[in-house]
Amino acid sequence: MTDHEAELRRRLERLSLKEKVGLLTGAGFWTLRPAEKIGLAPLVLSDGPSGVRGTTWDERDHSLLFPCPTALAATWDPDAAFEAGRLNGAQARDKGVHVQLAPTVNLHRTPLGGRHFENYSEDPLLTSRIAAGFVRGVQSAGVAATVKHFVGNDSETARMSYDALIDDRTLRELYLRPFEETVRHAGAWAVMAAYNQVNGVTMTEHRELITGLLKGEWGFDGVVVSDWTALRSTVPAAEAGMDLEMPGLPTSPWRDNLVRAVREGEVAEELIDDKVLRLLRLAARVGALDGLPGPPPVTTPPDARRRLRDLASLGMVLLRNDGTLPLRADTRVALIGPNAVRFAAQGGGSAHVEPAHVVTPAEGLRRALGGDAQITVHAGVHPHGRLAPPPLALMTDPETGEPGARADYLDADGGLLLSEHRRAATLRFLGEGAPMATRQIVLRTRFTPDRDGVHSFAATGIGDFEFRVGTDVTSLTLVPEGEDAVESLMKPPEHRVTAELPAGTPVPVELRHTFAYPPLVLTFGIGYREPHLSEDAELAAAVEAARFAGAAIVVVGTNDEVESEGYDRTTLALPGRQDELVAAVAAVNPRTVVVVNAGAPVLMPWRNEVAAILWSWLPGQEGGDAIAGVLTGLAEPGGRLPTTFPVTETGVLSPVPGPDGTLEYAEGTAIGYRYYAPEDVAYPFGHGLGYTTWEYESVTASGPGGTAEVTVRNTGDRAGREVVQCYASAPSLPLRLAGFAVADAAPGETVTVTVPLDERLTGPYRLHAGRSIADLRLATEIRQGTRGLLRRRAPGERSLR
Ligand code: BGC
Repeated sequence: MTDHEAELRRRLERLSLKEKVGLLTGAGFWTLRPAEKIGLAPLVLSDGPSGVRGTTWDERDHSLLFPCPTALAATWDPDAAFEAGRLNGAQARDKGVHVQLAPTVNLHRTPLGGRHFENYSEDPLLTSRIAAGFVRGVQSAGVAATVKHFVGNDSETARMSYDALIDDRTLRELYLRPFEETVRHAGAWAVMAAYNQVNGVTMTEHRELITGLLKGEWGFDGVVVSDWTALRSTVPAAEAGMDLEMPGLPTSPWRDNLVRAVREGEVAEELIDDKVLRLLRLAARVGALDGLPGPPPVTTPPDARRRLRDLASLGMVLLRNDGTLPLRADTRVALIGPNAVRFAAQGGGSAHVEPAHVVTPAEGLRRALGGDAQITVHAGVHPHGRLAPPPLALMTDPETGEPGARADYLDADGGLLLSEHRRAATLRFLGEGAPMATRQIVLRTRFTPDRDGVHSFAATGIGDFEFRVGTDVTSLTLVPEGEDAVESLMKPPEHRVTAELPAGTPVPVELRHTFAYPPLVLTFGIGYREPHLSEDAELAAAVEAARFAGAAIVVVGTNDEVESEGYDRTTLALPGRQDELVAAVAAVNPRTVVVVNAGAPVLMPWRNEVAAILWSWLPGQEGGDAIAGVLTGLAEPGGRLPTTFPVTETGVLSPVPGPDGTLEYAEGTAIGYRYYAPEDVAYPFGHGLGYTTWEYESVTASGPGGTAEVTVRNTGDRAGREVVQCYASAPSLPLRLAGFAVADAAPGETVTVTVPLDERLTGPYRLHAGRSIADLRLATEIRQGTRGLLRRRAPGERSLR
């Protein structure tokens, strides 16, 4: 035992059984208990992976908003993932967070998966390398990364209970691999156990996978934390190897129950000691254990905004280009589309953060094209299910006269507990924020219309409300659509009213929410839509604007209601009439450029009728600048698809469990590019164009598990970035990703990159090098090795059944 471990053990020995068990359940939603007598500070956990939200969900508490993880994977660059991780870690340090609940490394089993935007890829190798880079980056800043959700949480429908039936080989080769790589090679300090079951056992009780595989075979020495409320039993969860139950709710299957179970001999005290030791080890790593050396200070760098913008453009994928892009600076632009107006910088769910600002495509384009640029903006269609938050400029706090609203918190007797100024008309509480005695919250603002007409307002939330607009008062009870708590938090039901109002005259708008329980998980607020034309008239206006413009840029996509947590998508089609809008614009302007603002594949029936398609993902707070930079050629579209884009949704894998609650992974290892027939693929895995051209000159390889050297030449007249991809194939096995590396080259320059090959591919196999799985330029044979393409069992590796 090292001195360090001996010291942790000495501290452990000073705690009573009750004190030890007390450390293993959260003190609150995001915090753990301290233990002053052994110098343990209260550890703070916070969500990721789109940024570090911190312990509140509040528009006044800002976080850097990163490009969505799928965009990060689209960089195909573990160094970029390291940088993103390190920046997350720095934010965490600034916010006093010790443990970030990221990265999410479940796979893109189906494009319908609700949290697709939050996962990296359909390919286990690409996911593993990006995840490992991210984990190393976060932890280099002295913050624990938490690899989640272990395992089989590749979709959301009935996620709390479904039973993923996954065979041994598929589990090992696909779904476990990113966990194994991040634990074994990147040294992750925490892993989160998922809600679902795998092969009949709920993951927080899965002894074989947690104790046997993760802690045993892989030697994981960190903490296994439950997903929030996923730990549901005393003895089975303790014996399976769970270390930490989250969050700390008034009721807990552990705490006193676990103390009793130890006293009654049902759980060995050594097992508790092992859990506490793991927690102390983690605390030491993040500098929360007094007297032990902590990590050096790290803080968010002053150029964070530039870094976020560069990360966003590095992940953007140019799917198609007839030469219209990059745009010329003097182009008269008709900017069109719902996402040009309501830009989706992030997805929904627990990954959501509150950025200080979001740069929209219109702002970005104005900046990139210069002050004199002529840009018109038309939404064209309105596919959103719910109204947008009212603009801050139209709201006034009735108490202070500042832009915004006032929130009054009242106790059961109507006594005022707190009154605060807010800069938004939506309140969200996840454990922290409102005084616990609150039983009524009144959100009120003075709303001043900026035009005459029929204005729409909405009350959103769950439970009992009184909604006042002007002199009209409505009493309401709003009931959630789905069963998942996060779904209700992100997509609460909405009640709309309209009011004919003149411009310039303020009216009171007030939403009073009454409830009978402490405000632990709560969301409600006010939505708004200005007077508007019919959708037919708006669409026609957008098409007219496009007709005479030098280029039409149509920003279509999803939003944080469509791509979120607790439910999956039901269709890959773009919401509302967006396809119709694109087709109508393309029919009048041959220079129609579509920017798709989504984190997961959508169908693009118009894809061969438009001049160019730029896939921007959900690009984070600097997204508008990144999009404009790529459109105008200031930046290279650096990304390549980390997932296959299908032509239709017919035949894509369903995320919905059967009536018996099982979700059978009957396709085995055949997901993504291993699943689709070539004719079903719109854009293949690895696809992405740049603004220059490349010649693949040679490939040589040192042998299986070694490296390949690939020489490429930039044959265009611009500097460029190429993601050199290597794929393996053998007679009995279709193509699969074997390695990748990034080449940067000046015009005319020849570069040789070293591609680390997947050490699990043992040869003999044919190694191909190229620009995507469907555009292979060179090949060589890997002859050494006689073990066959399939991986052998490693020493000590057991069957999982
Ligand atoms: C999500 C986790 C998240 C946790 C805490 C859960 O619903 O599945 O990814 O970390 O909530 O917000």
